[in-house]
Amino acid sequence: MDLKDIRTDYKWGALDEDKVCINPIDQFKKWFSEYTSLDTLDSTAMTVSTVGKDLIPHSRIVLLKEIIDNCFVFYTNYNSTKGKNIAENENVSLLFFWPEMERQIRVVGKAKRLSEELSTSYFNKRPFESRVSAIVSPQSSVIPSRTFLEEKVFAFLAENPDEKQPLKKPENWGGIAVEPVSVEFWQGRISRLHDRLRFTRVANSWKIERLAP
Ligand SMILES: Cc1cc2nc3c(=O)[nH]c(=O)nc-3n(C[C@H](O)[C@H](O)[C@H](O)COP(=O)(O)O)c2cc1C
Repeated sequence: MDLKDIRTDYKWGALDEDKVCINPIDQFKKWFSEYTSLDTLDSTAMTVSTVGKDLIPHSRIVLLKEIIDNCFVFYTNYNSTKGKNIAENENVSLLFFWPEMERQIRVVGKAKRLSEELSTSYFNKRPFESRVSAIVSPQSSVIPSRTFLEEKVFAFLAENPDEKQPLKKPENWGGIAVEPVSVEFWQGRISRLHDRLRFTRVANSWKIERLAP
């Protein structure tokens, strides 16, 4: 197979300055509701890129769980690579790719921990098994085997057999809220003349600029 022969023509839609919302969060919500209506797998998945003090970028998928006070929120282990990177450098990037609609959204923003109260509230809403995993898994640490993890789960369940019993959220687990500084919406168009509109925060409003594809 020659990868150079794989070509997609983008013709699903267009993005016009006079039709976008004046606020990128509203525009994101509009596109997001259109995307979720397609009923795709993992529509909330996004790539989060972080850079710690070693200046090496790291990217990985997480799930967007909420938008709170105009911030994009995901949940994670604060001792993970991403958690440590964010503690060292608040600048992050979020990336959404929605191929069925030929759309990409790039967010540059400032990341901070969500309040303990909000993190606990979300933790308590998670299924029992997900809460147990968050408690026992030392995310991003090297572990000796899968058995090591499974034994931790068995040991935990032996001490906490009642699924209805409340579980305490670990201190090192919670939400990260990303406040956008710029957001770019990309819509694929024919002949590679794609539409790109970038919102940049200026004081209390947003400047909208068109970028060349
Ligand atoms: C579809 C999908 C959803 C994921 N959702 C999350 C999530 O919401 N939070 C999370 O911490 N990791 C999530 N992960 C796992 C991360 O991609 C990653 O493996 C993990 O967070 C460790 O990353 P780090 O070592 O760079 O911190 C998800 C992975 C995939 C493929």
